[in-house]
Amino acid sequence: MESDYQLSENPLVEGLERLPVRSTVLVIFGAMGDLASRKLLPAIYNLAHEGALPERIELIGISRGESTDEKFREHVRESVDRFSRRRPNADVLNGLLETVHYIRGAFDDADLYARLREAVEGLDEKFGTPLNRVFYLSTAPEFFPVIVENLGEAGLNTAEEADVRVVIEKPIGYDLASARLQNEAVRNHFDESQVFRIDHYLGKETVQNLMALRFANALFEPVWNRNFIDYVQITASEDIGVGTRAGYYEGSGALRDLVQNHMLQLLALLTMEPPTSFEANRLRDEKVKVLEAIVPPRLDEVALMAVRAQYGPGVVSGGETVGYLEEPGVAEGSRTETYAALKLYVSNWRWAGVPFYLRTGKRLSRKLTEIAVTLRPVPHLAFQSSGSLGVQPNQIILTVQPDEGVSVSLGAKIPGTKMQIRPVNMEFHYGTSFMSESPEAYERLIMDAMRGDATLFTRNDEIEALWGIIDPILSAWGADTTSPIPQYPSGSAGPNEADALLEGCAWRRL
Ligand code: BG6
Repeated sequence: MESDYQLSENPLVEGLERLPVRSTVLVIFGAMGDLASRKLLPAIYNLAHEGALPERIELIGISRGESTDEKFREHVRESVDRFSRRRPNADVLNGLLETVHYIRGAFDDADLYARLREAVEGLDEKFGTPLNRVFYLSTAPEFFPVIVENLGEAGLNTAEEADVRVVIEKPIGYDLASARLQNEAVRNHFDESQVFRIDHYLGKETVQNLMALRFANALFEPVWNRNFIDYVQITASEDIGVGTRAGYYEGSGALRDLVQNHMLQLLALLTMEPPTSFEANRLRDEKVKVLEAIVPPRLDEVALMAVRAQYGPGVVSGGETVGYLEEPGVAEGSRTETYAALKLYVSNWRWAGVPFYLRTGKRLSRKLTEIAVTLRPVPHLAFQSSGSLGVQPNQIILTVQPDEGVSVSLGAKIPGTKMQIRPVNMEFHYGTSFMSESPEAYERLIMDAMRGDATLFTRNDEIEALWGIIDPILSAWGADTTSPIPQYPSGSAGPNEADALLEGCAWRRL
């Protein structure tokens, strides 16, 4: 079996830990939804497969739909069969299914919470010990305040001799004001230490590796500042379109969907000061500090700092695709952006004057998430007379997906009698270096939430700092209801308008 092999024979994965986790009941609100089916249930299966789940784990699915324990178990089985990153093992899956229960109810119905309480206390009794509780809110965001309030009213926000935690999915709010309201609603019933706000990018191995690269190597940190770094480009491109999610996406757009959370998290980890420890609040203190140093554009600067666009028809992976406006569920004449590019500055001692360019979009030519750090050119090039005009400034490229790894471009001599230089790459690939497939982000995060480790989760003040950066852009875009939204062909590298943000460089090829 793959996991046995990894542990017994592959010395490269020696560091993989099996941390003890207390017995837990995991309650998923919105258990029949898309996220639960595609990500959460398969992640839980994979944790079971690796023997990483607590000795006792009970899974309660809640949703409005009519179902039974049996039918819900079938749903879990189908989700795992379809979306698990590894082929399910029948014994492991059957074992997991024995712990699965279903409760039907409307999220605003007090009776649901009375029944939930009864079920959870019944499990405590059955096992003769109080189980930790994790409430996972995988629902539409309008239900978050309703659910936390009802959990609180039903006395489910605390438990004697057991820890209670609540995991909240994105989006947290719609803008700064609504995010504040939501944080308040949660704070009324849960202590911040009980709250785990998910940004699944933080669970990606390569995103965490960004911190390893910076803080476990003496090589990079001395140049990690305005004296050596010329500019940074962060790209999160997708080839998929909006699919069946127009209902959500129409009210969101690329800026809220990917920039406010995932991309700004990458920026924060890239630019923060070294934390004194990897403890949750020390790390998050540093992130908040640097996010607060990002000066949001003034309303009259937005046009110079941010570009939005929408995908038109085109060809992606050899197939013709429709434009955003023709997608099912998209409003006629919709102005929702499917592409956003931004130029931001971090106004502090380390980064003053360095432009950070961010771009994300759907229906671009391919899926790629990377951070490209370009260093300043060398001050003097002694080889110019030998025709070494191909010399490029060094670049450090961190690829988050799909080819997880790091590459550093160096100038090297072309073999021969002349002193001619050209760029070559020094590469590290996760797959070949560790001979193991990276776990899905949700596996790590569900595990951390069960263990009560909030390091890779977003704190309330961090959420507000993130919104603070994009709020003026949202306001300016929202207020402009007439100027045409640029279009880009599906399958392209995005709109030409985004080039205008760049100073003295070009967007990296997708
Ligand atoms: C989600 C967004 O948060 O991230 C989606 O809502 C997007 O629109 C997804 O497709 C991208 O995640 P990943 O892990 O595929 O890069």
